[in-house]
Amino acid sequence: LADPTFSQAVIDWQRSHGRHTLPWQNTTDAYRIWLSEIMLQQTQVAAVLGYYARFLERFPTVQALAEAPLDDVMAHWSGLGYYTRARNLHACARRVVHDYGGVFPGGPALLADLPGIGRSTAAAIAAFSSGARAAILDGNVKRVFARVFGIDQYPGEKRVEEALWRRADALLPEQGIEAYTQGLMDLGATLCTRSRPDCPRCPLQARCVAYATGRTAELPVRKPK
Ligand code: ADE
Ligand code: SF4
Repeated sequence: LADPTFSQAVIDWQRSHGRHTLPWQNTTDAYRIWLSEIMLQQTQVAAVLGYYARFLERFPTVQALAEAPLDDVMAHWSGLGYYTRARNLHACARRVVHDYGGVFPGGPALLADLPGIGRSTAAAIAAFSSGARAAILDGNVKRVFARVFGIDQYPGEKRVEEALWRRADALLPEQGIEAYTQGLMDLGATLCTRSRPDCPRCPLQARCVAYATGRTAELPVRKPK
């Protein structure tokens, strides 16, 4: 499953065509990175930007968030949707302050133990804040992998998802985890979109099974009934 040319193609594309000026980039502050990853879990970048700025203005540190009443946190989340995220956010801030002295743990395993942080989000936070070599596998990355590798089983199924995690782990670069992680996210969000992917601009086109076989509209396969 390993193939260093895969990560190199993603990294090279990210450096020339990826996004570099999002407000949660160019920082290693785990608090800011964590907040962005939670907001971005079910919400697109454009919708997050304003909330992110207002939230950080009101709660500039994890201590400020932990000390705030839940009502105040909910008011600053109002309109973003998926409100369990906001309740978990507050609980997570309290855990970081009480269990870790206000410093987010650096490794993905401890991060994934905190409220609202799943395996993929933990890996993204760890990669961006401390360069940890950990694989992400969110909905966008599942779609890219399903197409590139021509996976014709539903990726929400447990066995299929486990196989995708093994691939994701095997494909990690030795160097440049931040660019690689951001590159996979950007590829899925900007080129390899759900409908009408922009294959002519894609750095993975030459190795993409879906492209080669004209199945980009069929992959990833939808949930079976
Ligand atoms: N979606 C999830 N994480 C993201 C990030 N760091 N940048 C842009 N989109 C994202
Ligand atoms: Fe997605 Fe098209 Fe790139 Fe394949 S070639 S990964 S379908 S954008």
